[in-house]
Amino acid sequence: MKEIKVGVIGAGSIGKVHLQAYQAVPDVKVVAVTDIVEERAKQVSEMFGIPRYYTDYREMLEKEELTAVSICTPNYLHSPMTVDALNAGVNVLCEKPMAINAKEAQKMVDTAKATKKILMIALCWRFSDEARTIKEFIRQGYLGNIYYAKVGILRVSGIPGMGSWFTNKDKSGGGPLIDLAPHFLDLAMWFMDHPKPVSVKGYTYAKFGPFDKRRGGWGIPEPGGKFDVEDLGCAIVGLENGATIFVEMSWASNIEKDTSYCTLLGDKGGAEMMPPKVFTEMAGKYVEIIPKVEKVNTYVEEIKHFVKCIQEGTEPMPRGEEGVIDMQIIDAIYESARTGREVRF
Ligand SMILES: NC(=O)c1ccc[n+]([C@@H]2O[C@H](COP(=O)([O-])OP(=O)(O)OC[C@H]3O[C@@H](n4cnc5c(N)ncnc54)[C@H](O)[C@@H]3O)[C@@H](O)[C@H]2O)c1
Repeated sequence: MKEIKVGVIGAGSIGKVHLQAYQAVPDVKVVAVTDIVEERAKQVSEMFGIPRYYTDYREMLEKEELTAVSICTPNYLHSPMTVDALNAGVNVLCEKPMAINAKEAQKMVDTAKATKKILMIALCWRFSDEARTIKEFIRQGYLGNIYYAKVGILRVSGIPGMGSWFTNKDKSGGGPLIDLAPHFLDLAMWFMDHPKPVSVKGYTYAKFGPFDKRRGGWGIPEPGGKFDVEDLGCAIVGLENGATIFVEMSWASNIEKDTSYCTLLGDKGGAEMMPPKVFTEMAGKYVEIIPKVEKVNTYVEEIKHFVKCIQEGTEPMPRGEEGVIDMQIIDAIYESARTGREVRF
């Protein structure tokens, strides 16, 4: 198989995770890394034995003969960097959230179509055995029609990069809603086969961040930087098939412990994903099925899939179009929270 030459843009927390994952996949060589902080680019290139490093991604796109890039930079750079890479004839794996809003996300999809290059969004949870197992139970009809999904990621103390791009709305697009919802909102939409959203009523709160409380999680704090995003957001999303999704995402909250859940209710059965359980009727009894799942490295699985799509010329999962729908919902949650009104599509 022809070797795939990769460049990684952004050598921060998740950039290093991508680099590790690429090293675990055959027929791939990371030939260059870019970070705007030269010291970081140099250090990471040495750490992973990458031949060249850059501080300007456009220079990397120009000088290297790349097959693919991973985009691991702050959210506001996802769309412009993806568009530039696709236009340079390079396939793109872009970190979540796809962009800071649906309009920027749509530009990425349009460019991928025009250039006939692969655009995959790095929604690593799709590659977990937990999610794949639940999807298979759904495919085999155990849940029937899913009419209600409830998803949440709630942290006690997990505000990432306090004062950095993470907590600056212009650069992040928002707080936990845009940072965390892409993972589990995307799963709910995937489990339900991506029905069109028709209405959204959303709410946002900032109770800890503005007082520099509850730091934690990813990112590098920047003292003196601003916090103008929410630290909790929730919403009820109406879908064209009559189904509903309830979403709640928080970086900081007064709860017992960090919690993540994805609950699905169907007319034949229900399911929990964390850990996977299926509830249904069998032999006249209401039963709980507990599938055995493996712990997989979701980042390695995600990158293996991206590489396979490039090698075989197949469509990636998740597709950019699915990411745009997720972004439309997130935009509508913010709009509804701002106006106090329901958003109708
Ligand atoms: N899939 C996941 O599980 C997961 C986890 C964490 C972060 N993320 C996503 O990954 C992205 C990056 O997050 P992070 O935690 O790694 O942030 P980070 O701040 O640790 O790293 C971002 C890196 O990008 C670099 N950068 C900034 N501007 C640049 C530019 N113009 N050119 C090149 N490099 C530039 C920064 O110097 C930094 O090294 C975000 O979109 C985040 O939402 C995804």
